[in-house]
Formats: sequence, C-alpha cells, structure tokens
Amino acid sequence: MRKNLDFLAALALAALLAAGRAAQAQTADQAWLRPGHFHGLPPVPLHLRALGREPLENTAVEEVAKEIENLYGSSPAVGGSDADDAIVVGTLQELRSAYPWLHLPATLAPEAFWLAEPDSRGKRLVAIAGGSDRGVLYGAFALIRELATSGWTPKTAIAAAPALPIRWVDEWDNPDGSIERGYAGRSIFFEGGKVRGDLAPVAEYARLLASVGINGCNVNNVNGASPFLTSDSIRGLARAASTMRPWGVRLAMSVDIASPQTIGGLATFDPLDPAVKAWWTAKVNEIYALIPDFAGFTVKADSEGQAGPARYGRTPADAANLLAGALAPHGGVVLYRAFVYNHHLNWRDPRADRARAAYDIFHPLDGKFASNVVIQTKEGPIDFQAREPVSPLFAGLNESSQAMEVEVTQEYTGQQRHLVYLAPMWKQVLDFDLRVDGAHTPVQKVLARKGLGGMVAVAGVGRDAWLGSPLALANLYAFGRLAWNPDLDPAVIAAEWTKQTLGSDPEVVRTVVKMLMQSWPAYENYTGPLGAQTFTDITGSHYGPGIESSENNGWGQWHRADKDGIGMDRSVATGTGYTGQYPPDVAKLYESAATTPDELLLFFHHVPYTYRLHSGKTVLQHIYDSHYDGAAQAAQFVRDWAALEGRISQPFYEQVRDRLVYQAGHAIVWRDAIVQYFLKLSGIPDERGRAGRYPGRLEAEDARLTGYKVIDVTPWEDASGGKAVSCGEPSEKENLRSCTAEWTWQGPAGRFDIAIQYFDLQGGTARFALKINGQPAAAWIADANLPSNRPNGDNSTRRTVRSVALKPGDVLRMEGTPDGPDPAALDYLEIAPVALATSTSTE
Ligand code: GCU
Repeated sequence: MRKNLDFLAALALAALLAAGRAAQAQTADQAWLRPGHFHGLPPVPLHLRALGREPLENTAVEEVAKEIENLYGSSPAVGGSDADDAIVVGTLQELRSAYPWLHLPATLAPEAFWLAEPDSRGKRLVAIAGGSDRGVLYGAFALIRELATSGWTPKTAIAAAPALPIRWVDEWDNPDGSIERGYAGRSIFFEGGKVRGDLAPVAEYARLLASVGINGCNVNNVNGASPFLTSDSIRGLARAASTMRPWGVRLAMSVDIASPQTIGGLATFDPLDPAVKAWWTAKVNEIYALIPDFAGFTVKADSEGQAGPARYGRTPADAANLLAGALAPHGGVVLYRAFVYNHHLNWRDPRADRARAAYDIFHPLDGKFASNVVIQTKEGPIDFQAREPVSPLFAGLNESSQAMEVEVTQEYTGQQRHLVYLAPMWKQVLDFDLRVDGAHTPVQKVLARKGLGGMVAVAGVGRDAWLGSPLALANLYAFGRLAWNPDLDPAVIAAEWTKQTLGSDPEVVRTVVKMLMQSWPAYENYTGPLGAQTFTDITGSHYGPGIESSENNGWGQWHRADKDGIGMDRSVATGTGYTGQYPPDVAKLYESAATTPDELLLFFHHVPYTYRLHSGKTVLQHIYDSHYDGAAQAAQFVRDWAALEGRISQPFYEQVRDRLVYQAGHAIVWRDAIVQYFLKLSGIPDERGRAGRYPGRLEAEDARLTGYKVIDVTPWEDASGGKAVSCGEPSEKENLRSCTAEWTWQGPAGRFDIAIQYFDLQGGTARFALKINGQPAAAWIADANLPSNRPNGDNSTRRTVRSVALKPGDVLRMEGTPDGPDPAALDYLEIAPVALATSTSTE
C-alpha cells in the first residue's frame, strides 16, 4: 500500500512539474539565442549608435544590445556621436553620410551586409552596414553569431549576401491547433479554429528565423487550406503577420485552389473562368489591405486528395498563373508544389512509377509559368526518405524559378525522437551535379540561377520547446544557414549551433558535432538501406518499421522485395524509364547497376540478394551488417553523450540522454525487424551468424503466463519472433488487474543487464515491474507518447535494468498492469553479462 501511495505521489509531482514547464514562456533563448556563456569584457565597444529609424534597423539595434547583455552581462549605451568608439548600425548609405571618411564597399544588395572594423580616425568602430534595413538586421545577427561563437576580433570582416531570395519555413498547422507531421506539440499560431490570442511565441520564433536569415513563414497546412481564406481568418493572420514583421519574416499561406467554390460560393474553380479570376483578385486585394507585406501563396493541388486544375482539364501552369496574376501587382509570389502524383497507381504494372510524376507533369510546362511563380520541388522524387536520388525536375525546368523543399520536421527520419542531423543530406543534394547540357550544374546553381530561387523547409515547430528535441533544433538552424549560403559545411554549421546552444567548451563542441555528423548515416543504416527507402509504415505513422506497408498498394513507394531479390527497376532499358529523366551524364550513371552508387542501387535496380556491391558485400549481407552497425552507433551515442555530464546544463543533458537511450532501444527494434524479415524472405543466413539468433533473449510467449495472452504482432517483424503477450485487449477500458510472465534463470551466476522490451501504447499509462525471486528490481510507467494504438514497432520500447545479480534457478517475473487502452504488452527480456552488454540505459 505504502508503495502505491509513493507511486501516486510521484505521479502527482511529475504532473505538477510538467505543468510548470508548460506554463513557462517559450522563448528564442531556449534555442540557440541563449544567454550567458562569457565573462569579462565584451570584445566590442559598449556603445551602440543607430543611424537609421526603419523598423528592421530598430530591431537590429535591440537584438545586438540584448545579446551583449546576454553574453557579457553589461548593456551597451544606445546613442552617441561619431566621436565615440561604437558599434554603428545602419544602411550603407547611412554609414557613408555619417562617416564619409570610411572605406566602405561600393554597393551592397538589399539583403546583404558588411560587418567590419574599418579605420576610423583613431576611434574604434564596429560597423554593421546593410544594403537595406533588412541587410542591417542580418548583419546584426551575424555580429551576434560571431560574438557567441568565436568572439570578435578587429580582423574579422564579413561581407555576405544570401544565395537565394526565397528562404521560407512552412508550418503545416491546422486551424484547430494540430500540426500535420508535427512532433513538438500544438501550434504556436492557431487554436480552436482561430489565430491564438497569445502570439508571444510567434514573435520569439520570428527572432529565431531572422537570426539565420529566414525571411518568410507560411503558417498553414498545404492540406485542407480553404478555411484560412475567410475574411475572419485573414484578420487573424494579419495579427500573426504584424507579430513577425519586426524581424522581417513575411507571412505566407497555403491555399486550396478550389477555394472560389468551397468558400466563395462559385459553381466552379476552373482557373480559366473569369469569375474565378475575379474572385482571386478580390481575395488577394483583401489580404494585402490587411497584410501589405504578404509574401504569397503555396499550392498543393491534384495531390493526395487535394483538388486541382486537372478537374477541368487545366494544367498546373493555368492554376499557378491565375494566382500569380492576382499577386503580381502587390509583389507576391506563388510557390506551386511539384508534389503532384497519382496515389492510385497500379502496383502490378512494372512500368508504373510515382518517381516519374513531377517531371512528367511539370517538364512540359517549362516556360509557361508567370515570372512570379516558383516551382517548389521536394529534394527527392518520392517523399522525404532517408535516402533518395535528387529530383530530376531540378534539371527539367530551365525557364522557371525553382525552390527546393526539405523537411526540418523529421517525418520519415525519426520524428525528433531519433537524433538525425539532416544538413549533410541537404548539402549532398545542393552539391549534386546534374550536368545540364554536359556542364557542371550543382542543384544550388539551378536554384540560384533565376530571379526567384529558394529553399523551403517544412518546419513543424510547436509549443513543446520548438521541435520537441533540443538537438533537433540544429536542423532548423542549419536550414537557415544553408539557404543563405549553400556552400557552408554542415560540420561548421553544427559547430556554430553547438557553441551558441551549449557554449564553447571544446570537448562539448567536438562531441556534439561528431554525434550530429554521424547521426544521419546511423539512422539510414538501421532503417532503409541502399536507396530502398525508409522501410517504415508508409500508410500510417511513418515512424516504426512496417516493411510491406509500401507494397501492393497505389501509393507507389514500392521496393518490390521477393524471395530472390529487391529493388525497383527504373532503367530505360528494362524498367520504368525514370533514369531517362536526368540529363544524359547522370542518366548514364544510374541506367546500369554496375555504375549506380551502392547507396542508391535499390532505388534504380532490382537485383538478387546475392548481387555484389562495389563494397564487395552482397546486398543481403549489407542489409544485415548495416543494421547491426546502425544500432551499435545509436548505442554509442548514449556513451558519447554521457561524457558531457557536468559540462553542460543538467536539464539539457538529461533531456537528450533520455532521448538517446530511447533511440538506442528503438534502433534495435528497427534492426531486428528488418534483419528477421529479410532472413525469412530470402532464406540466406547472415555470414556473421547474428541474424535470427538472440543470445540471452527470453521470449514473453515462452514464459509461464498468468493473465497475459500470447498475441500475433502486426506486422510480424515488429516483435521478436512475431509474437508478444498482452494483458487484456487494448479496447478494454477499465482494466486494473495485473498480468505476470515468469522465467526461471538457467544461465550462470553473475551480474547481468536485463533489457525489457515492451509496448508503450497511446492513451494509457500502463505500469511494469521486474522482480527477482519476488524482490522488486525495477518499476516504471509506460507514458511515452508514441504512435499507434496496437502493439507494434511504433511503440516497442526498451528499458534496461543494470547490474542485476542472478544465479541458476532464480525466478524472473515481469508484472504488467494495463491502463485503459494500453494492455502492458511485453515482447521479451534480454539478459547480458554486464561486461558484454551492448544496449544502454540510464538506470
Ligand atoms: C507527405 C506527408 C503528408 C503531406 C505530404 C505533402 O506525404 O506524409 O502529410 O501532406 O507529404 O508534402 O503534401
């Protein structure tokens, strides 16, 4: 009884603490604009002289003042004359008038800045000069970055202009406050069908965005966008726009091309109908009357159930140009998404190929788009997989402005519960040489070549610490930095982010950068190999393993695995012809399996499992090895991070540690699912003898069960041996009894780490306890918020109890107490001698 009371008290305390945390304001200081890393005198004058009065210049001055106070604890005086040592903030023009004797750059583009210490008649000047007020703001944030990362020396001089004019984040927020593919709580913009009353987090978000040069924010989901165009909604959006305006972040929105019909009451939304045109013109005018700097529209049409011009036999160009015409007089743009495809493809047809869709549809329209239309194309031809080739459409639109769309929100890459730093992947795409007309043509050059190129990230920011995971913020930071300068090295960006977030301790920076840089390859290794795409549940959560979910349906994410081989034949000679969409040099590379790089082999070719890669391994052995390597790397992250305890703030340390421990366990779920699936399908053993053998594993279905029932897990590969035990059906609401599973230890005496693999379902807080000979060894609650309400690889979770003494004949007993829909399901125990234990935990 006493135990129970303690347990309840602990729960109540945890709830209180959680509520306290939730009530704390969400600020940019909790991300990379953090206070207080340096002591001593600031390396810049403690005077700030503002030369202009434009709103963005005022923000620039405020931000520099705030950061100096944050970092050094002393606030600069604002004001002064040209006789003072000072940080001088103004446009190039303003600097030239105030200090005519200075050697300044001849010109600066509007968003560009120059940050330097010019000679100034014996006075010390740190000059922030912008091509416009916007450039001034970016220059101010550059000084802030310098101060927080490397300090500032008179030798530092930076002249910088963004490579791309469109640098936007897209939030896929819904009016009710939920977020499509968001993993960080609810919307900072919307709640209950309206723009939120408290927009303080939106202002803080705009600070973060501006600090890395992001200049646009599309606030609503590309799906179901109609309600955002009502007059009420536009008034609310105008408030959000004003909130972001001081940081130069312009509001954009997604629109539903059917809006003239769905909310306008017209009988049609045919883009060539004059009434439809008039409707859009009036609507756009209404928006600009309230949001004069409105950035523009993003459009998802004829895609995944969203209506589109195809309904009337019209093209994407007809629809895009209709909107572009309405926006042009106000300076707005249309970002028309190339993510247009048929999700009812015939999977029996060997020529059918979703990867072809964007090029097939948009390439013939090149040259037909208005000048303020930008074609927004996902980096790969499918859908944000952990590995895809570069979309051939980047080479297929020579007359059109293009933007590349990436995801900061980790939809297919671990949903922020897994550490995956995506900048190296984006950088690979930006640098990929498409060889247009046989000449060096990296994707970044394609994006920059027309007037309106860009990069857009689906950010998925929410109320839970922006992205939920503290380390995931490196992705948002890196996106902005790469969109500004695609030549930056992802490792350098990672170091910048780490220093600003965690301080400059070299050990911390070295460790965090190493972990970030290793994280994408690790994730790719334990999820989807060789370009076969992420073997996840593609019709549901996009999170845990679900290998067959992509097969035998119309969604076209097929990998076509059978007992003999795996991969999609996309060659021109024998497959779908997709390789022919690339310019000839690249097409040639991918046309033959012999020249296709290993990491993309299965994207382009169907090969036997025994096919030998350039690495010398067979495809199947690579699948086995990469999954063991990836899971081992995930375990290594926990050890790497442990070395930072005491060097960084304890709450930050603990939050990340808990996530990494979880990730290491989930990587084993992934590893085992894929390895056992392909072992069974191919019948070919692992040369290294690991696949299908799990030393020390005690399956729950083999235990002496009381109350627990053996269940088949779906998909089978998500549980060890395909089976688990469940204490009551998930649908049983009131279920207070406990179930038990018992094993008798038959191994040697010694100290062991005991890993318990269980399923933590949504909607209930099941309880688990491990007892040895009736004595409690561990107890915990299963309260993680993981996808799916059935036991499967989405919610299979590992808990490791360290250094437990066991001797032959000891009885290990697991007690599971279901709660509501969570039936305290168990998969297995895995017992490893302490010295050999490979998994990791915090206990
Ligand atoms: C993915 C994602 C969807 C999203 C779509 C898109 O398919 O799963 O939720 O709507 O991309 O980019 O439009």
